[in-house]
Amino acid sequence: MATTGQPAAGATATLQELAKRHLWMAFTRMGAYAESEVPIIVRGDGCYVWDEHGNRYLDGLSSLFCANLGHGRADIARAGAEQAERIDYFSTWSYAHPPAIELAAKVASLAPGDLNRVFFTSGGSESVESALKLARSYHKLTGHPNKTKVVAREIAYHGASLGALSATGIPALRTPFEPFTPGGVHVPNTNVYRLPDGFDPSSLAEAVRDRILFEGPETVAAVILEPVQNAGGCFTPPEGYFQRIREICDEFDVLMISDDVICSFGRLGTWFGAQRYDYQPDVVTTAKGITGAIAPLGGLIVSDRVAAPFMEGTEMFLHGFTFAGHPICATVALAAIEAYEREGILEHVRANEAPFRAMLESLRDIPIVGDVRGAGYFQAIELVKDRDTKETFDDDEAESLLRGFLSGELFRRGLICRADDRGDPVIQLSPPLIAGPEQFEEIEAVLRPVLEEATRRMHVRGGTERVGVRRE
Ligand SMILES: Cc1ncc(COP(=O)(O)O)c(C=O)c1O
Repeated sequence: MATTGQPAAGATATLQELAKRHLWMAFTRMGAYAESEVPIIVRGDGCYVWDEHGNRYLDGLSSLFCANLGHGRADIARAGAEQAERIDYFSTWSYAHPPAIELAAKVASLAPGDLNRVFFTSGGSESVESALKLARSYHKLTGHPNKTKVVAREIAYHGASLGALSATGIPALRTPFEPFTPGGVHVPNTNVYRLPDGFDPSSLAEAVRDRILFEGPETVAAVILEPVQNAGGCFTPPEGYFQRIREICDEFDVLMISDDVICSFGRLGTWFGAQRYDYQPDVVTTAKGITGAIAPLGGLIVSDRVAAPFMEGTEMFLHGFTFAGHPICATVALAAIEAYEREGILEHVRANEAPFRAMLESLRDIPIVGDVRGAGYFQAIELVKDRDTKETFDDDEAESLLRGFLSGELFRRGLICRADDRGDPVIQLSPPLIAGPEQFEEIEAVLRPVLEEATRRMHVRGGTERVGVRRE
């Protein structure tokens, strides 16, 4: 057993009992496990993980959009262990240590333009929280104390902490925790499959300008946007979108925050979303893939212009977290970045994006597949009730489709991916960046029969007779 990493049978029963009694899982309906087993993942290697019973799964979500370099990277973890022998922990509050310094310099060298100043956090929500505080503080320091609001996009997820939730545009996640820090206002996202009335793709950026004007430019601190929006299902930007947002931000002295918590470190085939879509943000938030998920770390990458007022005289950014930039995590991040470079991970994603996408496009003959979208190794399939009219499922139907069937069935067949209805129902795929044609084939071999069965179960219009007619 020791060689496979599988727990012994008795230990398995104990783990189940302990999990059910004591572990409170994030964003999880704990009640669902009263009758069924908690999935307990005990081992990982490359694109695959194994549960306590020895069942193998293809990790089609990089766990949570973060295990970018694949699982089982003891080589990278080892770098952290070696760092612990030098200095295990010291804070970055008024002190520095080599891993934080070297990582800051490395990240700055990878980021575009004058994004040269790196402020570490312990994860994505802390990065967003820090960016929002930085934006307010920057405007106060530069003589615009009323610039406090943040413009974000509908259905976007920017984190779980209260400040980050004020930017999050998913009503169901917001309402249980209201009231928030005031100032989070929302505009349409770039879902070009379902454009709001009166919009075309080229006019979506104008919604940001209209909103800033409506709120009063003297009250708006920042716009926060993901390069490709995760929640809702991988909304990519229309041509020229980010360039126009940049112009709008410059017009009104509003900071442009690129929330790259998912999209940085290779997910789109580039270090940062700004390089994929050719724009220059003032602040980038990152986390997840920066360490290949081998240790928790996040950060803000801030332009020289925005950092400048904090670097003078007695000024400071009155903000920080104890474990931000932890020496072990920073060392792991340096080792992970070295692996990204040495193993040609970004090049691999760019070379394999087209076959990955083509595999997903080949599923379009299944009537329930309404749209396929995304970029790099970050793709989504939107599921519809009627492909011709784009009619979506009502809440009960979405519940029975996603939680009643898809999530369980995909997992049972060995594929971990996300079946989500924070917007309209989608399946999201975000495999480790080392995945290739073999994994794409495996993903298709699971998705095809499951989506065909979903088409039948949900009585999708457009004809089950079309099921099985495969586009080459
Ligand atoms: C775009 C974006 N921002 C922020 C967060 C929050 O990150 P974390 O869960 O590490 O706090 C997430 C998490 O998925 C995210 O996708």
